[in-house]
Amino acid sequence: MSAQLVHTIAGVREAVARLRGAGKTIGLVPTMGALHAGHGRLIETARAECGAVAVSVFVNPIQFDRADDYERYPRTLATDASFAEARGADLVFAPEIAEMYPRSQRTYVDVEALTQHLCGQFRPGHFRGVATVVAKLLDIVQPDRAYFGQKDAQQLAVIRRMVADLNLPVEIVGVPTVREADGLALSSRNQHLSAEERAVAPSLYQSLQATEAAIASGERNPERAKQAALAVLAAEPRIRVEYFEIVDPDELQPVTEIAGPVLIAAAAWLGATRLIDNLAVEVPE
Ligand code: PAJ
Repeated sequence: MSAQLVHTIAGVREAVARLRGAGKTIGLVPTMGALHAGHGRLIETARAECGAVAVSVFVNPIQFDRADDYERYPRTLATDASFAEARGADLVFAPEIAEMYPRSQRTYVDVEALTQHLCGQFRPGHFRGVATVVAKLLDIVQPDRAYFGQKDAQQLAVIRRMVADLNLPVEIVGVPTVREADGLALSSRNQHLSAEERAVAPSLYQSLQATEAAIASGERNPERAKQAALAVLAAEPRIRVEYFEIVDPDELQPVTEIAGPVLIAAAAWLGATRLIDNLAVEVPE
């Protein structure tokens, strides 16, 4: 069966109603397109767990804090549609901006506290834009389950909290990060890296692993656990660290002592490209 490409909200509601009428559960995979194997894993996971899979492709203007990032964001709908179909999507929802935002948006979803640190501190308005568009997409498609990558751990935590706080009738599923062989997390932005930047990019993941290793060998002080990793990154002139934090995995607040599960999360600039990555670490209490 080939995937149906739909551009309107009315069209997607009709298609979903038909699938529901045929007794299928619906899985939604929200994306901004430029699909790669990371998105592919989300679609395949949804395919395995749901009767039908909808993939949305929408470069959401209200979540970009920099105009240049929005403008140069890759837009490849034709290949995205066949990519999604090959991994089992039944429906690809690709609305125009005017379909999602026909008038000035006056209603936003603001998830407090969880958006205070990590990326939230450096990308004003970003998570408000993400939460708002995801709330809209969940209402448009009304899926049983929606799939998000752990690659964007703060985004996943924010959406889980929004769904819990607003009693939205959907199950949020987190999918592990897909990486290149050298450890670099797949991202649509990796294609902006020069050959030299690409060569040093895996050191971001290595720095997270170094911190994980320090914790595994018994370090419970977050500042000390970060030290070795930060030294590795500081030695690399092409990398500028934006943040490197150890936070609790639910509220995303920096911890003063590592006493339970934590999230090690980092963002770094390589030239004009910003990369993020994270590792969830279990600590025996
Ligand atoms: P986008 O960056 O296109 O990512 C879509 C989904 O793919 C997100 O849930 C993201 O975490 C996941 N993803 C990206 N790279 C991944 C990787 N290497 N491994 C596993 N999953 C990965 O995130 C967004 O779009 C937007 O903010 C969106 C949620 C669609 C709202 O506009």
